[in-house]
Amino acid sequence: MIRAYTIASGKGGTGKTTVTANLGTALAQYGRETCIVDTDMGMANLGLILGLEETPVTLHEVLAGKAQIRDAMYEGPYGLKIVPSGLSLQGFQSADPERLKDVMRDLTDRCDFLLLDAPAGIDTDAVIPLSVADEVLLIVNPEISSLIDALKIKILTEMIGGRVGGAVLNRTTLDSADMSKRQIEKVLGVRIIDTIPEDANVRRASAARTPVVVKYPGSESSKAFRRIAAEIAGLPIEEEPEAVQEGFIERLARTLFRRGS
Ligand SMILES: Nc1ncnc2c1ncn2[C@@H]1O[C@H](COP(=O)(O)OP(=O)(O)OP(=O)(O)O)[C@@H](O)[C@H]1O
Ligand SMILES: [Mg+2]
Repeated sequence: MIRAYTIASGKGGTGKTTVTANLGTALAQYGRETCIVDTDMGMANLGLILGLEETPVTLHEVLAGKAQIRDAMYEGPYGLKIVPSGLSLQGFQSADPERLKDVMRDLTDRCDFLLLDAPAGIDTDAVIPLSVADEVLLIVNPEISSLIDALKIKILTEMIGGRVGGAVLNRTTLDSADMSKRQIEKVLGVRIIDTIPEDANVRRASAARTPVVVKYPGSESSKAFRRIAAEIAGLPIEEEPEAVQEGFIERLARTLFRRGS
């Protein structure tokens, strides 16, 4: 079974961090032990959009050999485990991305699903995450520049012995300038698992530092995130948002439980 996915795109701003946070939360809502990791160590923002405030130990310290991965895991909604990266440039400089390979075994032992939020570009810190997961999931926007960059990542992944499992088409609109799903699949040569529409609720939720699947569970983007999570977890698709509302006790427990183990 595929358990570790790297969420990548090549181009910046396609929605990698948004997909990692929301797909991870949706998997946790379905009761799957899920861990999401911010491997965008230079421009870390996975922890920020999930409302993590105090993160004294992060992936930076783990990859610098100064801390264990369990000390860099924090608890998010529905028991989601989050490994943030630090915000300091000094921390980024001390982190050795090559150590990510060693950290992976420890992480996969601790969860059913593991999602790595990859950086944009093709620098070393962006290339390493492409080879350490079981599969790479490409996040593509319906425009030529995003498609070409995703294709580069696909080629690069295969060159270094990784595997691209599929793509997610994010931020689709009804605009006729949008490239079609069929066109993108043909150029990319991988299946588009699902489509996430442009949805203003995504940014509203991110401003509230909460995943859209929690803040606006009935929105079209949330439905798409749950469909993708259900497919990954091998579950029937559940359309009813009520089934995944976070209750008072879960919220309280999350406030009290500051750090995961
Ligand atoms: N489906 C969507 N609808 C509306 N806004 C979206 C959607 N997906 C992502 N966004 C917004 O697009 C912006 C970029 O998203 P995000 O940070 O997830 O991209 P990224 O690929 O991680 O970027 P980077 O390459 O800089 O790491 C954010 O403001 C996010 O809220
Ligand atoms: Mg990002």
